[in-house]
Amino acid sequence: MDKFVIRGGNPLLGTIRVSGSKNSALPCMAAAILTEDEVVLENVPQVRDIETERKLLVSMGAEVELGYGRAQHRTTISCRVLSDPTAKYEIVKTMRASALVLGPLVARAGIARVSMPGGCAIGARPIDLHIKGLETMGAQISYEHGYIEARAERLKGAHILFDKITVTGTEDLLMAAALAEGETVMENCAREPEVTDLAALLTAMGAKIEGAGTSTIRVKGVEKLHGAKHRINPDRIEAGTYLVAGAITGGDLCVSHCNPTHLGALIGKLQECGVRVEILGKDQIRVRGDGSLKGADISTEEYPGFPTDMQAQYMALATQAEGASLVKENIFENRFMHVQELVRMGANIRVDGRTATVRGRTPLSAAAVMCSDLRASASLVLAALVADGESILDRVYNIDRGYERIEEKLRGVGAQIRRMGNVFGGD
Ligand code: UD1
Repeated sequence: MDKFVIRGGNPLLGTIRVSGSKNSALPCMAAAILTEDEVVLENVPQVRDIETERKLLVSMGAEVELGYGRAQHRTTISCRVLSDPTAKYEIVKTMRASALVLGPLVARAGIARVSMPGGCAIGARPIDLHIKGLETMGAQISYEHGYIEARAERLKGAHILFDKITVTGTEDLLMAAALAEGETVMENCAREPEVTDLAALLTAMGAKIEGAGTSTIRVKGVEKLHGAKHRINPDRIEAGTYLVAGAITGGDLCVSHCNPTHLGALIGKLQECGVRVEILGKDQIRVRGDGSLKGADISTEEYPGFPTDMQAQYMALATQAEGASLVKENIFENRFMHVQELVRMGANIRVDGRTATVRGRTPLSAAAVMCSDLRASASLVLAALVADGESILDRVYNIDRGYERIEEKLRGVGAQIRRMGNVFGGD
């Protein structure tokens, strides 16, 4: 199992380049199921979750080609043949986003079998809203041997009101609606840029979609979708993580190839903490920290609010800010796994239900820590960058799920970080 060895203390200086968004690429890859033609995706990040999705599609009979050399972030998917419309337990258990194939499979093949996701590190993550939506569109749902089976000769357009805002739920049903008969109106949809990115691909494939990026999306179902080429949005969470890295280390860091308009809530908070943030042109952000941060409260919300996927990283920053910062997690019920490890490094954090109170500034001291989920792990990397001494982060496969070559990128701007063990070595 790989580990990271990080020696803290260096301010990050220079430019760091952001990869394509994992959370956009995953639904876009699933969208390829909707057509017999080739779908070409560019700017696909080379991270473990993408490899998992590739395996998932291949296990269903799809051909997935990953580009090499200069085209290494290009993925070509052909779902001409779908011999087995099943998302198997072995894959779903490692990546919950596998549920994204449910909608497109029923829409295209008339049948989908998806292993039920179990509990997960950041709390129960049910897919009941995906299923309810498909039922409203006329799918017959049954449960057997831990699998959900959905069947429909052709899905029918429907009126869907999400009880709760769900990102992958919105994406799943958007894909299903694209091939349904008649019009689907979805209300209380997620407005995340990843939904808009998927809608752009679907539109390029011939779908008729209005309102993506707002809470009401209208889809006029078409009989057939065709192939398309699409460039994936930059990863706003990776960009945000590097902005915090620049700020926490008191560095002068330019985060390039990102989309500043997707990062409004985080940028606002960084400024409130006393970080100097400058937007340079359309796709770069410069952060400068002079070492005197002050605490600020955050409350995670759906987009355009403060992202839950940045909560853990922000908490690392809050340990280095003067005063108390209240961190409220509204999206997931159990997303404070990083707290214990940060406390072991010297942070003063108390958790009461969904709120953590961070009292700073506390010097951090290097420790051997365990990476739990993806973003908790990113938070530990950030803490280790300012800790006194050499930290060892275990189970970095959790970071490899969503950050492309994070250690190389950070080393390029002056961090002392190295990987021990095989790249992508398993448990
Ligand atoms: C996506 C992101 C994840 C991010 C999350 C919230 C991907 C691949 N993952 O996850 O990185 O942290 O959005 O921004 O894009 N819920 C239900 N029933 C459902 C679906 C969701 O109750 O059928 C609940 C969840 O338990 C959670 C909340 O709704 O409390 C939001 O979850 P959701 O937006 O669906 O998260 P994901 O799409 O899984």
